[in-house]
Amino acid sequence: MTQTTSGVRTAALFGASSDIAVAVARRYAETGWRLLLIGRDTADLAATAADLRVRGGVETHVLQADFAHLEELPRMVAAAWDRCGGIDVALIAYGTMAPQSDAERNTAVAGEIIAINFTSPAILLNELAGRFQAQRHGTIAAITSVAGDRGRMSNYVYGAAKGGLQRLLEGLRHRLARSGVAVVDIRPGFVATKLTAHLDRRGILWASPDRVAADIVGAIERGRAVCYTPWFWRLIMLIVRALPRSVFHRTSL
Ligand SMILES: NC(=O)c1ccc[n+]([C@@H]2O[C@H](COP(=O)([O-])OP(=O)(O)OC[C@H]3O[C@@H](n4cnc5c(N)ncnc54)[C@H](OP(=O)(O)O)[C@@H]3O)[C@@H](O)[C@H]2O)c1
Repeated sequence: MTQTTSGVRTAALFGASSDIAVAVARRYAETGWRLLLIGRDTADLAATAADLRVRGGVETHVLQADFAHLEELPRMVAAAWDRCGGIDVALIAYGTMAPQSDAERNTAVAGEIIAINFTSPAILLNELAGRFQAQRHGTIAAITSVAGDRGRMSNYVYGAAKGGLQRLLEGLRHRLARSGVAVVDIRPGFVATKLTAHLDRRGILWASPDRVAADIVGAIERGRAVCYTPWFWRLIMLIVRALPRSVFHRTSL
């Protein structure tokens, strides 16, 4: 991966107070990256920034943004880009998840899940794409989910938003293939974060944010198209996708 002219590489984390994003930021800080933390809770981001400076981050900036305010996203991307004079890695890490039963009963809940997990990142990616294309280097990464691989009764609204984002990243990767810009689709399985705090998190399928962050940093460095994390989710989802409908409909997945 090439870098901006200052020699210091810059990572912009959109949704930087996510537990996974914080773990990614720590890894970048420890290797001397400049960091731009973007999110809505500036007090929380300022505390993270202070911690990252101690860990070795060359510079750490904070930018306030509510990603639900779709009309403000273009201005926010411009501010993020200008703040650092270019971005080497953009990671979109925000997301929201409500119980599927709530989304079925309440269309407003379904709409919010789709807006935050698909519409907002899609607009953000559109704004970032032209800038990365003109810069002719760098990596755009977004956290989707294994839930996007097949529609399942237990979470298909969230899964549909993540699946839509997977397709958008696929098309963007095609568009930017000749510009020297990598587009990385991160598909975690179960991760123990704020997002899943309400679930029973016992069992071997659960991973820590740091385990997933290690995979994310590695996938970005190698410019991998799709990264299942931890790795075994690639096999699990291969099986889930291959199940014939007649068998699939007898499960409660
Ligand atoms: N945890 C899992 O098992 C899992 C599995 C697959 C994919 N993922 C995906 O991984 C990503 C990171 O999630 P996580 O697991 O690290 O959970 P998390 O710690 O709950 O992070 C989600 C973040 O999204 C932010 N966010 C939500 N709506 C926002 C808005 N309108 N404006 C600004 N920020 C907003 C939240 O900000 P606040 O802190 O301000 O609320 C929070 O920091 C998400 O895209 C999630 O869908 C997670």
